[in-house]
Parts: sequence; C-alpha cells; structure tokens
Amino acid sequence: MIITDNEQSISELSAKWRKEGLTVGFVPTMGALHDGHKSLVRIAAEASDRVVVSIFVNPVQFGAGEDLLKYPRTPLEDCRAVEEAGASAVFTPEPEAVYPNGFSTGIHVEGMTSLLCGAARPGHFDGVTTVCSVLFGIVKPHLAVFGMKDAQQLAVVRRMVTDLRMGIQIIAAPIVREADGIAMSSRNRYLSALERIDASKIFCGLKAAEQLARNGEKKCSLLKEAFVEAVRNSALLRVQYVETVDPDTMERVESVEERVLLAVAVFAGQTRLIDNILIQAEV
Ligand code: PAJ
Repeated sequence: MIITDNEQSISELSAKWRKEGLTVGFVPTMGALHDGHKSLVRIAAEASDRVVVSIFVNPVQFGAGEDLLKYPRTPLEDCRAVEEAGASAVFTPEPEAVYPNGFSTGIHVEGMTSLLCGAARPGHFDGVTTVCSVLFGIVKPHLAVFGMKDAQQLAVVRRMVTDLRMGIQIIAAPIVREADGIAMSSRNRYLSALERIDASKIFCGLKAAEQLARNGEKKCSLLKEAFVEAVRNSALLRVQYVETVDPDTMERVESVEERVLLAVAVFAGQTRLIDNILIQAEV
C-alpha cells in the first residue's frame, strides 16, 4: 500500500490506474479510524479495483471552540487498518497543501445545510463540501463511499455531486455499531466510563421510536417523544436536537410516509454524539 502526503503523487497514481482501465474508489476520512471506517473501505474495495483513503483533519469544518486541536490522531494504526480492509493508497496531506496561500473557494449547498447539524454547527457543511470537492479533484475517483452515520453529510455531498455534475457515484454505507449499540465514532474515546454507559441509551431511544412506527404510529412528534423519553432519565445526556426528516432532501416531515430519518444529536457530558435510524413506513 502506498502512503503519501503528496498531492501530485496521488493524482498521478489515480490517473495511471484509470489509464489502465481500473476503477478508483475513494473513502475520505479524518483518521482515528475504527471498524465503521474500515467497513467503508471494504465496500469501496468491493465496488472498485483500487481504493484511495484520505486522512485529513479538515480545519475548515470545525467551528470556534470545537475539538480541532484535540481531535484524535492515530496515523500508524490508521494505515494498518485500511491496508487490512483493502486500500491501495492512503493520502495524508498537510493543511497548507490542501489550502495553499491564495485558496479562495468555498462550496455551499443551500437549504439542506440549514437545519440539524447545519444549524448546530454553522459553516460546518461548507467546510465538508469544500474539502470533499478539493479531494475529489485530486483523486478523481469513479466512486466514493460515505457512512449513513453522518446522514446529513451524505445527503449534502450527494446534492453537491449531482448539482456540480462531478460524475462520481456516491455509495452509502450502513452504520457500524459497538456491541452496546453506540454508533462507532472517533469521538467515542472522549467519553468517560459513565458517559459511555448512558450513551448506549441513544440507540435504545432510536429503536424505541422505530418500534413505535412498526406498530403503526405515523405521527413523527410521537416518535421523537419516544426517543426523548428513553434518554430523559440520564443526568449525563442532553439532547441537542431530535428531528424527523426526508433522508434525501433533509426536509422536515411530520408523518411517516415511505422513509423517514430520525436524526439526533446528544451531548454525553462535553462530547457531542450524532446518530440516526431510517424508519420505513409499514405497508
Ligand atoms: P470522519 O468522521 O472520519 O468519517 C469518515 C467517514 O466514515 C464518513 O463518511 C462517516 O459517515 C463514516 N463513518 C463514521 N463512523 C461510522 C460508523 N459508525 N458507521 C459507518 N460509517 C461511519 O466524515 C468525515 O470524517 C469528514 O466530514 C469528511 C467526509 C472526511 C470530510 O472532512
């Protein structure tokens, strides 16, 4: 497996593969990789001939007071993990290489970035779409894999790729969870033992809401209530948002027709966790 921080090297490698008639899959990450990230690499390796993984803690998607400086960095373990999962190359650029002097472009997806995490983290999605388009421009993949854990990010990137005719197939990867139901996240390592125990209630709440819908409940307000009820008795958890939205457009929905995404952000102590569940209407 090739590991490089050099943009030209990764561009040339990808161009060589494309010239040889090979398809190139891409998995952008911020490192501190876990089994969720590895599953994305495996999916990319199944869907393409060569997989490039980027590891880049993107400063412009972090807000003031967020965890940019303390974001976990485990480069050696990360390279080992993605090689095992089937990556052919890892791209680990420095911030100055991604955003050289004079860099002046930002990508903004209108509308669907204004609620959920977009409301809670102003400017976050502009940072995500900007870095993804830069990375797409360097790697020029045929396809890219994004996790449903960040369902809004997935929808926003899909919108950008469609609107800007980037010609990249976006594949959605299912959420990978710990045994206790917590969605795997690089930020889980911030949790204390007690926060960690309570954080497992988040998935219980999502499942409770899903069960309600399975029993025929169509009112989204009641699904949201079921979630809040499941986490209410924890002193360590604080719900930032709980919303029901269309998974493609991120528009709010009030009633379960076809597919509804129940998306939540919850603080466990100081650590902000996001999670979601896709609820299918009973027919
Ligand atoms: P990061 O948080 O490192 O996540 C990289 C990818 O892994 C994202 O597509 C995310 O949805 C996926 N992922 C994370 N946890 C997962 C889990 N438990 N199950 C399945 N997939 C999971 O998301 C980012 O980085 C950045 O915003 C990035 C897209 C790299 C742009 O900087």
